[in-house]
Amino acid sequence: MSSPGVSSAFYFLSFVLLLQTVALGANVDPLFHSCSNENFTANGPYQTNLNTLVGYLYHQAPTTGFGIGSLGQNPSQANGLALCRGDVSASDCKRCVADAVSTIRKSCPYSKSAKIFYDNCMFKYSNDNFFGQIDNGTKYFMWNVNNVSNRVTFNQKSKELLSRLANEASGNPKLYAAGELELNEESKKKIYGLAQCTRDLSYNDCKMCLDRIIGDLPSCCDGKQGGRVITASCIINYEIYPFVKA
Ligand SMILES: *[C@@H]1O[C@H](CO)[C@@H](O)[C@H](O)[C@H]1NC(C)=O
Ligand SMILES: *[C@@H]1O[C@H](CO)[C@@H](O)[C@H](O)[C@H]1NC(C)=O
Ligand SMILES: *[C@@H]1O[C@H](CO)[C@@H](O)[C@H](O)[C@H]1NC(C)=O
Repeated sequence: MSSPGVSSAFYFLSFVLLLQTVALGANVDPLFHSCSNENFTANGPYQTNLNTLVGYLYHQAPTTGFGIGSLGQNPSQANGLALCRGDVSASDCKRCVADAVSTIRKSCPYSKSAKIFYDNCMFKYSNDNFFGQIDNGTKYFMWNVNNVSNRVTFNQKSKELLSRLANEASGNPKLYAAGELELNEESKKKIYGLAQCTRDLSYNDCKMCLDRIIGDLPSCCDGKQGGRVITASCIINYEIYPFVKA
């Protein structure tokens, strides 16, 4: 993974501007975050690399919905990744990544590694080069508290939809797929879903990551009208209403 080939001064300036922009905007709360206990030395080379990298990812991510980069040499190398949900516009992506980087830096000021998750994006950095590896470290579950009436059929259908989307996502360069499945021919009721991986993963690893979290659905979301499994490498989400932006 190459370092961003642009001057540090530019990105440092961008980062300062970014913090000011965020301070003026209305922030959305993150869903989850986690900080490593291991801290870096204040004002040391790691912090400098991290600040520069964060500014770079903030500029890179909105264009394609994904930003990735490494800066510096070990042991002060900063590695980071920003991913927006596949259906999110460039402007919403930019806003979400801005919230993510400023919030995580405030919540985990000296952590060597940290992750933060929002509806519209995720952001992760570490002193370890984690690119191309499935992150099994953190897993979060969310569910709609409302139950379905036909639990067994519904569970089968939601799994069927998400498995189909896992196949589609892991063959698409954006590692993203969204779609729907008819629950009942008569009522025309549908189930809606999405599946997405961070774009540092191979197709095979994306599929493995998604299949594994689809396997977690019975433990979080049995008979629930909606469910989400979120990890730092892949996410799935289903609901009985269309939640994916067109
Ligand atoms: C790391 O920094 C945080 C925040 O300043 C502090 O609460 C924590 O105790 C530190 N951890 C270690 C292992 O020094
Ligand atoms: C995550 O778990 C899978 C399967 O257990 C394993 O193959 C993979 O190496 C793990 N990834 C990391 C980064 O530990
Ligand atoms: C859904 O079902 C669970 C388990 O049977 C029950 O505890 C819960 O109260 C139900 N939720 C609603 C909103 O009815």
